Amino acid sequence: MKKLEQLYEGKAKKVFKTDDPELYIVDYKDDATALNGLKKGTIAGKGVINNRVTNHLMKMLEKQGIPTHFVEELSERETLVKKVSIVPLEVIVRNIAAGSLAKRVGVPEGTKLGSTVLEYCYKDDALGDPMVNEYHIAAMGWATREEMETIASYALKINEILTAYLKDLNIELIDFKLEFGKLSDGTIVLADEISPDTCRFWDSVTKEKLDKDRFRRDMGGVEDAYQEIMKRLMGE
Ligand code: TMP
Repeated sequence: MKKLEQLYEGKAKKVFKTDDPELYIVDYKDDATALNGLKKGTIAGKGVINNRVTNHLMKMLEKQGIPTHFVEELSERETLVKKVSIVPLEVIVRNIAAGSLAKRVGVPEGTKLGSTVLEYCYKDDALGDPMVNEYHIAAMGWATREEMETIASYALKINEILTAYLKDLNIELIDFKLEFGKLSDGTIVLADEISPDTCRFWDSVTKEKLDKDRFRRDMGGVEDAYQEIMKRLMGE
């Protein structure tokens, strides 16, 4: 499968057309941004790790009944995916208070939540991805109520599957962000990535951060943390 015209360049990935109108190629970059684009940098080797980790997790989720856009890993940084129209929402799932939630409600990071929290943010860089609720989503026509039921139930099931899987690898899944897309026939599938860029992973014992917070917060050891996640998930 050959890369044709570039369709889109995001902060961490490029997307290309292929000669099959229903398939795209995603190409992962080492570029990193944080604070809504204010902080920019590179994380050496990140593109390779995020490509491989995402594909590993998507294949596992597919086996457990979650439809995804994944088709085939083409190279270290490139993956063939199904063409989707992205539902313009970041779907955030939280098990432990951290990041913006810890700030918003004034609890210390690491506080266990009494039950899983789902949040939605409208994907719009110029607006800073504002948080919205199901009423906004239906009223604005970003997704139907029925589509949101599917998305919420997939998000919760993904949380259960990933939490259990990562626990065995001594990784605590604090929170993560998902994106969903619609195939041409309207089927909702998991899209985008699941990686240390989009999840908070803490070592279960030491509580050491093994994710992009090390970049966001200038903690150092960013590359090592990404490597450690790939090693624990894929044995290398
Ligand atoms: P937050 O605490 O900053 O709201 O982030 C919650 C989770 O979502 C965290 O695992 C990081 C991830 N996330 C993204 O992947 N992209 C984003 O743009 C944001 C704001 C968060």
